[in-house]
Amino acid sequence: MNITSGQYIASAVKIDQYPEGELHEIAFMGRSNVGKSSLINSLSRRNGLARTSGSPGKTQTLNFYKLMAKLSDTDKRDFFLVDLPGYGYARTGKSNRQQWAKFIEEYLLKSPRLQLVCQLIDIRHDPMDSDISAYKWLIENDVPVQVIATKADKLNRMAVKKNVEAIRKGLGMKGDHIIAYSSEKGLGRPELLDVIGQILLK
Ligand code: GTP
Ligand code: MG
Repeated sequence: MNITSGQYIASAVKIDQYPEGELHEIAFMGRSNVGKSSLINSLSRRNGLARTSGSPGKTQTLNFYKLMAKLSDTDKRDFFLVDLPGYGYARTGKSNRQQWAKFIEEYLLKSPRLQLVCQLIDIRHDPMDSDISAYKWLIENDVPVQVIATKADKLNRMAVKKNVEAIRKGLGMKGDHIIAYSSEKGLGRPELLDVIGQILLK
């Protein structure tokens, strides 16, 4: 599978702002600065499609990007990647954080087109409390989740393996596969495209 186009479609903080249609959606969640927007650029191979920043809290709304996947010479499909604001970042204050939780939860529970949530965790650190509670919340609410360990280019191969296991343990995962990803180097991209390809065929 390959990606042949990518474009920004809409930003939303409530249901009536979601784009219309029936396209499958894959969402990206994780702590601020973990690399969600960078991963969208890497996956679509369109730098600057999603805005990234060295300081946390860049993405503040649900942002929908329409991509086209080429599954074979005759089979092309559109789908959405959905960039979510990061959690676990304090600057916006407590009431803002609660509001954040509300509109994200609403999306995660109510979008009929959401097929998969990719939960991103920085490969250099053990999962934090906010990561663990987000993961548990997804599982409890039957939201399909793919864990992705980001910024894998920052570690050598041995450390990647070791830290992926630490993330698995920290989240209390039961053997599901974690993808080690680097938006800088493209590591893990074919694997994630495979996962998405399976979903698009459903
Ligand atoms: P918020 O929108 O604030 O929640 O952050 P985000 O999760 O969208 O993170 P973003 O993609 O903006 O990246 C944050 C920082 O991490 C930027 O400085 C990126 O260049 C850097 N970064 C993201 N992915 C990678 C990666 O795979 N490798 C390296 N080395 N740096 C990365
Ligand atoms: Mg972002």
